[in-house]
Amino acid sequence: MSASKPSSGARRPASPAPGTRPSGVAPEDAPRYVRQLFDRIAPRYDRANHFLSLGVDVYWRWRTAAAVDQMLAATGAAQDAPALWDVCCGTGDLALALARRSSRRRRGWRVYGGDFTHRMLVLANEKSRAARAPGDVAGWVEADSLRLPAADASVAGVTTGFGFRNLADYRGALAEFARVLRPGGVLAILEFSQPAIPGLRAAYGWYFHRLLPRIGGWISGSGEPYRYLPSSVDRFPAPRELAAWMAAAGFAEVKFRRLSGGIATLHTGRRR
Ligand SMILES: C[S@@+](CC[C@H](N)C(=O)[O-])C[C@H]1O[C@@H](n2cnc3c(N)ncnc32)[C@H](O)[C@@H]1O
Repeated sequence: MSASKPSSGARRPASPAPGTRPSGVAPEDAPRYVRQLFDRIAPRYDRANHFLSLGVDVYWRWRTAAAVDQMLAATGAAQDAPALWDVCCGTGDLALALARRSSRRRRGWRVYGGDFTHRMLVLANEKSRAARAPGDVAGWVEADSLRLPAADASVAGVTTGFGFRNLADYRGALAEFARVLRPGGVLAILEFSQPAIPGLRAAYGWYFHRLLPRIGGWISGSGEPYRYLPSSVDRFPAPRELAAWMAAAGFAEVKFRRLSGGIATLHTGRRR
């Protein structure tokens, strides 16, 4: 029996899956680039974040925690001290918003914050220790969001705030979230988006592309992250496309709502 011969023509590499593509960086190097970038700005991340968003980011995370709570309460999917993972948690603000909500409303959630940048997690840990009501953060875990250290169907909720856009494989990430979520579990993705209102879109485009890289550079001491930010938002799929990927990955009740005129968008879905 003769072995089949490889085709003589040069093989074109398969086009990489949709994911973050920092300019001048090969797709396989994107995760390392992203980790180094966040490692560099970690100590000044919070200050830059709150300043550049004029504090509205706090409200966006609160909305995300409220939406998750509402969805879990609606079906009783959250029982027996359910685990919630806030992935790409950075310095922990969304995980802490979830933990505070759990404490105040006696939800008994065990909130895990996961991130692959060690310095971000150190800051998250310091912040949760310093908080007067640290709530129910069960642990800060150094983990890749594309390979979570959680068993299949073991988690009641997965959230991510401004982290999803930075992942190297968006559909792979959705498949991973679907793997760890139990049926009925909730996914919430909070991400920057392009404002839907034309006037706001133009003004925000100017702010985001011209002003923000300069101010972000002054505050954080490094301009590169704030050049990467607008370009990564430009390349990020539109809300309808991300919603379609969520449905294809096994999520039902997929919805997105634009926040603050569409500067940010919150996607939610329920694991089938
Ligand atoms: C813009 S910050 C968001 C931090 C936080 N969630 C917030 O609401 O401000 C993005 C975070 O995603 C993390 N990240 C990016 N890719 C990751 C990956 N593959 N696995 C784990 N964390 C990742 C980065 O280390 C960074 O801390």
